[in-house]
Amino acid sequence: MKYVVANWKANKNLSEAESWLKTLAEYPSAHPDSELIVAPPYPFLHLVPPTISAAVQDLSPYAAGSYTGAVAARNLIGLGVKYALLGHSERRQYFHETCQEVARKVDQALQNGLTPIVCVDTGYLAEQAAAIADDQLAQCLVAFEPVAAIGSGENVPVAEVSEMKDRIIQLFGEVFVLYGGSVTPANVMDYTAVSDGVLVGTASLDATEFIQLVEMA
Ligand code: PGA
Repeated sequence: MKYVVANWKANKNLSEAESWLKTLAEYPSAHPDSELIVAPPYPFLHLVPPTISAAVQDLSPYAAGSYTGAVAARNLIGLGVKYALLGHSERRQYFHETCQEVARKVDQALQNGLTPIVCVDTGYLAEQAAAIADDQLAQCLVAFEPVAAIGSGENVPVAEVSEMKDRIIQLFGEVFVLYGGSVTPANVMDYTAVSDGVLVGTASLDATEFIQLVEMA
């Protein structure tokens, strides 16, 4: 099975979100061999139809309680969210998230029945794995997201992804490994050949382009 994750980041307004989700919901679920996941901004989560899995783009490292502005895993119960994208490089860069914090988010996700999708790059892969509790490592999905490849059109050579997949499995155990960074309909097949799926930013924003990408994956 291949995972295809659409990470909208902080894009789209309500009507754009509705229109994308409508297009994808009507897309025949003729691909039982792929898991289609969308990670919209929080306000649009409840619009995700049951034919598509929903992910959050972040999660509070704290349990529910007095943490103004935070979204705790418990707040998501009933919204049909299955996955939590954690430790994306943009969170690390702009919101100064550390590996320790990401590990606390992984713990919160797992305690509340969400599957973490942990994003890593070469420089902090080992530190990130060391920060996560041993018994939680193999419960994660891991996305290799080389920072220089994100949103740049500079996707990395496929051989590098195979190599990283082996390193990730050594550290996390038998986990599914995704690749993310300038994935397009034109190159997606190369990456799904050596990984368990892809995490897509820019090429996920247009519903038609994203459907093309899913077809190719
Ligand atoms: P990109 O983003 O597809 O625009 O490179 C990928 C990501 O940030 O997950």
